[in-house]
Amino acid sequence: MSSTTLPTKNTAVEPDFLPLEGTDYVEFYVGNAKQAAHYYMSAFGFQALAYAGPETGVKDKASYAVRQHKLTFVLTTPLRPGNEIADHIYKHGDGVKSLSLRVNDAAKAWEETTRRGAKSYLAPVTLKDEEGEVVMSGIYTYGDTIHLFIERKNYSGAFMPGYRAWTNPHFKPADTGLLYVDHCVGNVGWNQMNPWVKFYEDVMGFKNILSFDDDDISTEYSALMSKVMSSGNGFVKFPINEPAEGKKKSQVEEYLEFYNGEGVQHVALATNDIVKTVRELMSRGVEFLKVPTTYYDDLLDRVGHIDEDLAPLRELGILVDRDNEGYLLQLFSKPVEDRPTLFFEIIQRKGAKSFGKGNFKALFEAIEREQEARGNL
Ligand code: FE2
Repeated sequence: MSSTTLPTKNTAVEPDFLPLEGTDYVEFYVGNAKQAAHYYMSAFGFQALAYAGPETGVKDKASYAVRQHKLTFVLTTPLRPGNEIADHIYKHGDGVKSLSLRVNDAAKAWEETTRRGAKSYLAPVTLKDEEGEVVMSGIYTYGDTIHLFIERKNYSGAFMPGYRAWTNPHFKPADTGLLYVDHCVGNVGWNQMNPWVKFYEDVMGFKNILSFDDDDISTEYSALMSKVMSSGNGFVKFPINEPAEGKKKSQVEEYLEFYNGEGVQHVALATNDIVKTVRELMSRGVEFLKVPTTYYDDLLDRVGHIDEDLAPLRELGILVDRDNEGYLLQLFSKPVEDRPTLFFEIIQRKGAKSFGKGNFKALFEAIEREQEARGNL
């Protein structure tokens, strides 16, 4: 097992041409946005934030924005067939359309990235209402996924023009301690990891900070390769997975088959108290992958001292891994739709900046048990 932490090139003299302030929101195209919004509120503890649809002058779609701390999800559904959103759902099922990134200058972000070869999704537009203006632009990334660049420094409304504030005084589920997007992982096709790594390097100025080959990430059956891409300032991290040859079908292949192409595999959500967060999510019906309880028998020998009691970690199935900067606790949900595609990771970092390599084997064996139950192994 050896992963490579790559030396970062000397970039001190190169200014970051795409300074990202973080993830602005994650937008999902879904079959029923009203019910999806309710799921993220009731199960994940988001609050109602804003709504756009026919009542706000948007004739072809309905969007619900929900928020928890710095985490904003937008659930969007088409109102009629025969358009980009409806086609996306027909092809992929419910899934992530946009990993939207906060910038100080959305026009410049679009110019810099398209000049470097990005395919434009949306030329810069300025959206205005009485609360100010939001400038938005966008480029394509893998599959039908996009990055929107969001400039909102001159906006004081609930979310953005076109939306109206949305509250429900009778339904305010308690939050579950989810704070912000830690990282978003994309699954790409055979031999496509390196071209997408190059895209993030050349077009967005990202650096490859970590690589895993198929020796790191393989079990008897499932194998994949992964490279972690990070924005210049480290605020945005996008690991990219591709399948690798194993005895049977890789979990990435299963995703590609059911998503019908490349797309977002998981979004990792940060918490400061994973035991509390996971207990809350489970009690509200979120299902997680379960590793065998033997995982905990020699856990402390593997990771050394941790602040948490072992009993609740074992009870909830929370995984622990250590790198040379500290440790992290993590847990992965089962897919949150009927296709075995998108899932969520819950992560608490205690110094570690890595992604839980030490858990890959136990985790992938758990994934394979699920794959086998679906008849897809
Ligand atoms: Fe992850």
